[in-house]
Amino acid sequence: MNNFWQKLKKPILALAPMAGITDSAFRQMCKLGGADVLYTEFVSTDAIVYESKKTFGMLKFSESEKPVVVQIFGKKPEHYFKSVKVLSELGYDGVDINFGCPAYKVVKSGGGVKLMLNLDLVKELVQAACEASQIPVSLKVRASIEDKATKVKITALDLVEKIKDLPVAAIMVHGRSFEKPFDGELDINSIIQVKEAFSAVVLANGGVYTPEIAKSLLEQTGADGLGIARGAWGKPWIFQQIRDYLGIGKYRVSEWSEIKKTMLKHAKLTFQSKGEHGLVELRKQLAWYVKGLPKAAELRSKLVRVNSLEDIQGILKNN
Ligand SMILES: Cc1cc2nc3c(=O)[nH]c(=O)nc-3n(C[C@H](O)[C@H](O)[C@H](O)COP(=O)(O)O)c2cc1C
Repeated sequence: MNNFWQKLKKPILALAPMAGITDSAFRQMCKLGGADVLYTEFVSTDAIVYESKKTFGMLKFSESEKPVVVQIFGKKPEHYFKSVKVLSELGYDGVDINFGCPAYKVVKSGGGVKLMLNLDLVKELVQAACEASQIPVSLKVRASIEDKATKVKITALDLVEKIKDLPVAAIMVHGRSFEKPFDGELDINSIIQVKEAFSAVVLANGGVYTPEIAKSLLEQTGADGLGIARGAWGKPWIFQQIRDYLGIGKYRVSEWSEIKKTMLKHAKLTFQSKGEHGLVELRKQLAWYVKGLPKAAELRSKLVRVNSLEDIQGILKNN
């Protein structure tokens, strides 16, 4: 098996998975922006087994993205086995299992982060994936979740102890609990504990919005790298900025002319993979690119109404 994780230079800078955001076009932008490894949006193991056309549409990627890791969710071991076999053959470099998602549509049936409440099942799922896989298997976990019935807190470390004997290649720890899913301070200790207990790659995730925060999180946790999600919104170049800051203590801030080129490239890639429907989906991301600029409000109000590449080109040309 080609364990690409072991070949990446540390610190590894990963684009963390984001449903509705980390499609092929955005991943390619982040790759150009310096990311070492890219995670897809999550896909359902049930949908793969039932050959959902929509899901297979989401599974397309470009060779330029590699290494690219496909993320799965679900709770049936037999579906993990079957879907990981399929995904292994599609050319992905790795497959990642989601044990962190707090979204209602995923947790209502006991999936995502709720799986952390059933560590025996977690082990079965990871085992099924490892048995089926010809590519490295990684996990994404949260700092903790409280079992409402017993008031016992299940931690990322508990999960890692449970799967320790399985050949897992990497773990990304989102240092926030299920109870505080996206905001608030990170539980740094949850990441440190995993780094100490787990011998393969550990990525720290949560709240990395600037190169300064990136450096501090790496220093505090001793992690092998970082997972960056919202910090890449409208800033796919953040990965290179982080690398520069870690290497030489400073980084370049993009000028408006460069931001415009990046926006246009992102729009063209989106159009190529999804057509004009993709550009409608992209509106919110285009608006993220102009955040903080002097004419942000005016630009945003125009960008959230675009329907075609020509519309986007027109706005960028006149501003
Ligand atoms: C819109 C959105 C979608 C997300 N989708 C996923 C997902 O599909 N799989 C996953 O493991 N995490 C998902 N996450 C969580 C992120 O990967 C990440 O753990 C979280 O946002 C914390 O990182 P950040 O502070 O850098 O944003 C999502 C987050 C956001 C904001």
